[in-house]
Order: sequence, then structure tokens, then C-alpha cells
Amino acid sequence: MTESGTVLITGPTRNLGRYAALAMADRPAGQRPDLVLVGRAGPDLTAVADEARARGARVHEIGCDLASLAEVRAAAVAVRDLLDAGTVRPLRALVANAGLSSADTRRASADGYELTFAVNHLAHAQLIGDLLGSFTAPARIVLVGSNTYHANFWRRLLQVPEAQWADPVELARPATGARVPGTTASGIAYSNAKLAILYYAHELQRRAGAGVAVSVFEPGWMPGTALGRGAPAALQAVGRFLGRLPGVSTPQRSGPLLAALALDDRWGHLRDGAFVVKTAVTEVQPVARDRDREQRLWEATTELLDRAAAAH
Ligand SMILES: NC(=O)c1ccc[n+]([C@@H]2O[C@H](COP(=O)([O-])OP(=O)(O)OC[C@H]3O[C@@H](n4cnc5c(N)ncnc54)[C@H](OP(=O)(O)O)[C@@H]3O)[C@@H](O)[C@H]2O)c1
Repeated sequence: MTESGTVLITGPTRNLGRYAALAMADRPAGQRPDLVLVGRAGPDLTAVADEARARGARVHEIGCDLASLAEVRAAAVAVRDLLDAGTVRPLRALVANAGLSSADTRRASADGYELTFAVNHLAHAQLIGDLLGSFTAPARIVLVGSNTYHANFWRRLLQVPEAQWADPVELARPATGARVPGTTASGIAYSNAKLAILYYAHELQRRAGAGVAVSVFEPGWMPGTALGRGAPAALQAVGRFLGRLPGVSTPQRSGPLLAALALDDRWGHLRDGAFVVKTAVTEVQPVARDRDREQRLWEATTELLDRAAAAH
């Protein structure tokens, strides 16, 4: 379905997003979408754009630090300009892949919001909101979530904390005071941001209109990516080791699965924030379906985005 269109992907510079973008560029001519790559400007963005072009794709790079909502708004304008000028084919899919897990919850985005919540959720909510009227149906929005929003045996063993939901305005507030050594605050912030993505996906589908289908992809645990780059060096080394074990998910394997969600007819039926763990449509835990929280998140997100725009 997206063969005659454009796919926008955020965070294409490394790992999951990079392999997803290259998998889309690898599609045979006639099934290959135009690509709009939204990532931090610099050599990594140029490199992946060049690699995708070498595979035959038409590629546009948009430099954007997602930790700045002004840059996100400007990126949305740049996308609309490309579409209006006919420089790229109609927008058929947006893959909200970029993410991070800030090691210090006192860190704030350019707009003063807690960094993990700002990049994983707020930036994508801004981008998607600004582009919602620019899709050509049938279109898909694929958000990237994570199972860390709830605990299980392995995550308890690895001390990956589950979400501890609070009002989104609170989640957006950077921590204050001294950093407590060994704190799980950054893990909780990450899990909260990923739970927010599930809530947002459900509410987005209710508001997006029939022509836009919303789903959420979980790539499987990919230890050793740059997601934990703020973590202590020893922990990062363990991650790199684990990432080489057979059977563990890798960006090389999960990237093409993410690309498939945006492109393949097989996934054309997905909507309502359907949660896909690699290739398995999976029912989310009861905590991830909550109409009140979903509506409140929508309202609070609007409030936070409006406040940032007004301050600019
Ligand atoms: N790794 C896992 O086990 C795992 C599991 C479940 C879900 N996920 C999700 O999968 C997605 C990709 O994760 P990954 O493991 O591939 O992580 P990664 O290696 O850290 O890549 C993250 C991507 O997001 C981009 N990004 C981060 N902050 C940004 C900012 N301020 N502005 C613009 N781009 C920014 C990075 O750009 P730069 O190159 O400029 O830093 C990079 O392209 C994330 O949403 C993550 O939460 C990962």
C-alpha cells in the first residue's frame, strides 16, 4: 500500500531506526517508498541517507533535535513543504522510532521537560499532531513502545523497573535535588514514557480519523544499543555482550520487522494501537488500557506543547 508513498521515520541514525530505514530502501523498485529521515543533523544522518540512496531510494533528510519542540515544529513545516511542492510522494506512514533513556531524570529538554518523556512522547506527539492533516489515506502511524511498562520475571531479575504512572504534567517535570546513587528513577521514567506511548496510541486512533491506522511496535530486547548510553560503562559492556548471544533480538533483525509494519499488506488491518511484539500481535496488560488516563494524557500533552510554543 505504501509503494506509491512516503514514509517518515524518526531516529534513523543508528540501530533499530537505521535498519528499518535501510530495509525500506532495500524494497524492490515499485515497492520502495520515498523516505523522509528525521534525526539529529550530522554525519550519522548523512551516512544513513547516503546508504539508503545507494540502494535506490529517494531520500530527504531533516535535521531535528527532538529534545527541542521548536525544532520539531520546524521539521513538521519542512515535511509539509516537501509534500505541498510534490517533492516527495504522498505521506503514507510515520514511524516514531527515536527514543532514549536518560540516565539522570534531572535532565531537561530545551523546553524544560524531563528528557526521556520529552523525546519519547512529547516530540512525537508534536510531530504527529502537526502532520495529522497531511497524510493520504490509507496511512499508518507506527509508534515504538516497550514491554518494560510492566514487570515480569526477567525484568525483575535484571532490575528493570515497571511504570509508576502519575499525572503527565508531573511526568514531564525534571527531578530536583541530588541524584540518589543506584536510583531506579531513570528506568521508571523510561517505562512511564513507554506506557504513555500506549495510552497515546489508543487516544490517537480515536481522534485520527478512519484513514489513519495506529499501531505500536515492540522490537524485543536489543541489549547493547545506544539506548542506555548514559548508563555506567560496565553495564553498557554487559549489554554489548548480551547483544551477541544467539536468540537475543538485534536491530539488524528487528529493523526489517518495523519496516514491515509500515509497509506490508500483511499489517494493513492493524489499528487502535495494536501492540506488535516483533511479529506477534499481543494484548497489552490491563494497566495499558485506561480511558481516563488516555484522555488526561491527551489534554496534558496539548497543554505542555502549547505552553512550550507560547514560551518560544
Ligand atoms: N534497545 C531495546 O532493547 C529496545 C526495546 C524496546 C523498545 N526500544 C525502542 O526502540 C527505539 C529505538 O531504540 P534503539 O535501541 O535503536 O536505541 P538507540 O540505539 O539509542 O537509537 C535511538 C535513536 O533515537 C535517536 N534520538 C535519541 N534522542 C534524540 C533526539 N534528541 N533527537 C533526535 N533523535 C534522537 C538517536 O539519534 P542519535 O543517533 O542522534 O543519538 C537514534 O537514532 C526506541 O524508541 C526504544 O525505546 C528499544
